[in-house]
Amino acid sequence: MTSQVRGIQLARLLGQWHALPGRRRSPDYAALAAAVRGLLADGRLPLGVRLPAERELAEALRISRTTVTAAYRELRETGHLASRRGAGSWTMLPGTHRVASTGLWTPLDDRDMIDLGVAALAAPAQLLPAARAAAEDLPRYLSGAGYHPTGIIELREAVARSYTERGLPTSPEQIMVTSGTQHALDLVLRLALSPGGGVLVESPTYPNALAALAARRARITTHGLAADGAGWDADLLLGSIRQTRPKLAYLIPEFQNPTGHLMAAELRERLVGAAHAAGTDLVVDESFVDLPLDGTELPPPTATFDRHSRVISIGGMSKPYWGGLRIGWVRASAPQVQRLAAARVGVDMASPVLDQLVAVHLLADAPAIVAARQAQLTAQRDALIGALAERLPDWRVAVPRGGVTLWTELDGPISSALARAAEEVGVRLAPGPRFGLDGTLERFLRLPFTLPAADLVEAVGRLAAVRYDLDRAGRPQWREPSVIA
Ligand SMILES: Cc1ncc(COP(=O)(O)O)c(C=O)c1O
Repeated sequence: MTSQVRGIQLARLLGQWHALPGRRRSPDYAALAAAVRGLLADGRLPLGVRLPAERELAEALRISRTTVTAAYRELRETGHLASRRGAGSWTMLPGTHRVASTGLWTPLDDRDMIDLGVAALAAPAQLLPAARAAAEDLPRYLSGAGYHPTGIIELREAVARSYTERGLPTSPEQIMVTSGTQHALDLVLRLALSPGGGVLVESPTYPNALAALAARRARITTHGLAADGAGWDADLLLGSIRQTRPKLAYLIPEFQNPTGHLMAAELRERLVGAAHAAGTDLVVDESFVDLPLDGTELPPPTATFDRHSRVISIGGMSKPYWGGLRIGWVRASAPQVQRLAAARVGVDMASPVLDQLVAVHLLADAPAIVAARQAQLTAQRDALIGALAERLPDWRVAVPRGGVTLWTELDGPISSALARAAEEVGVRLAPGPRFGLDGTLERFLRLPFTLPAADLVEAVGRLAAVRYDLDRAGRPQWREPSVIA
């Protein structure tokens, strides 16, 4: 069944659509169409949903029906809406758009766009030599069928070794190689969560994890993270696990995406205890564990405190090495790995052997590659923070001690409006609401520092200009939330 968005819901999503920058130059219908495109672009209005009838939306927005009719016509012409007489109108995207890794919509041919929607680095220089060396290794595998549902043994050994070196003794039987961390999460959810099961997540959290949970029709509860300070509130987090007893909790303890927080050892230990007592499986996403900055010391891995196979760790190559490799993994008990492998053959059988061999070569060179990444990220983070302090001094950032993102507190609940306006000046943003469930987080913006410093400084300059335009747009851009008693 197609889902439908009602007039008042769309009106709420559209917010101050009539006050967007550039508004004075365009008629009402064009501004409305642009605002709907903006909602589609930042993922807040899904594809394939039925929009309200023209009259209903006109009433909700208190504008004339002719304006809505003209806006819908324009959306049809630009390929954002499909209509059938008597059946209504559905959202869609024109053929020149594709999905970027964060779920934002990226035009295929726009090379001038500075993309701050994606928090991932370009490949390191060592990638090409690793790929050549992997091709040399390939003949060793060619006499077999090439299917390795848990991964090739060399890579499982290398990943197990990296856990052992972090103080968590791990055997290759406890590792399953996947096609990226996202794939690892999806497989774990298939195994550990029945449709409709309860899941606790941080808010804000990684949007594609929310997408994976939505696909399992999970019942989600959230633990709100503070933007600054420790991030997690230990009592609230443990209390909500005890009270709601979710089947599973998905957490990112190392340099959390998007806030950059690092969970303290003490909370890790208490968390594992509380999870066990509540019958909750803990899925810890260690995507950023290799990227502490400023010499920050890492607490022990969360699974160190696990005595009952409650903790499933997932991680991968995308953040320290390259997202294009599509190599990730799960660390769990050996029987859990066997069950995951059995589930996996119904999905994709196995990961590509050649890519796994590339990963083996990169991991053999890990200290040098990771040290260079850390130096690069530190310089880029500092350039971004410096540019923000100079050009947008009212925005507040807590300096993250690792990872790749700044969770920026804006000077008003303008994140989506800013993202729409920024697109016009060639900067793509992932606005705050993308990292939550309910359209909140408008006061926040995730800014990755994965692009070269010059691009980051240029992007901040453009954002400062757009921010200034939002103020000049004549009408108020936001209202203080009304008090509801
Ligand atoms: C927390 C987190 N988990 C998972 C992923 C997806 O990683 P992969 O590219 O390995 O699938 C990302 C990528 O941004 C991430 O930030």
